[in-house]
Amino acid sequence: MEQAHDLDLMRLDTLIEEKFDNNPEALIMVLQEVNAEYNYVPQEALRYVAEKLDIPLSTVYSIATFYKAFHLEPRGKHIISQCLGTACHVRGAVRIKDKIESLLSIKAGETTEDMRYTFESVRCLGCCGLGPVVKVDEDVYSNVERDHVDKILEKYQ
Ligand code: FES
Repeated sequence: MEQAHDLDLMRLDTLIEEKFDNNPEALIMVLQEVNAEYNYVPQEALRYVAEKLDIPLSTVYSIATFYKAFHLEPRGKHIISQCLGTACHVRGAVRIKDKIESLLSIKAGETTEDMRYTFESVRCLGCCGLGPVVKVDEDVYSNVERDHVDKILEKYQ
């Protein structure tokens, strides 16, 4: 079930009007902005965007579900992406995954109860020579070892 979220409708309204001139063709860009702001697209935002751009909610919903970049469930303030691709795997990525899961008491694909972290396993982060690789928000950490994980996560409160 979706958790209550402080969706700033005024801000969304201004964004749609000023940046996108209420243009229905800007739907994907509007959804990208919302997704970047909240780390997901709240249901309330889908409804609001549909109304504001005069697009059927079903269309907005199908676009939002079609693109993997959009998340419809609440996600944490910080997104931890950990690579389990082949190059990282042979360098011990599973140990890093286990450490993250045990520190946060969640499994990959889940969000901590305090909504601070969402942990995701990914297939490749594009810097295979530097594995194991962990990305937190936009920061990439390379050659990560088990005992680095606490210090890395401490930076993201
Ligand atoms: S396999 Fe891990 S970054 Fe490519």
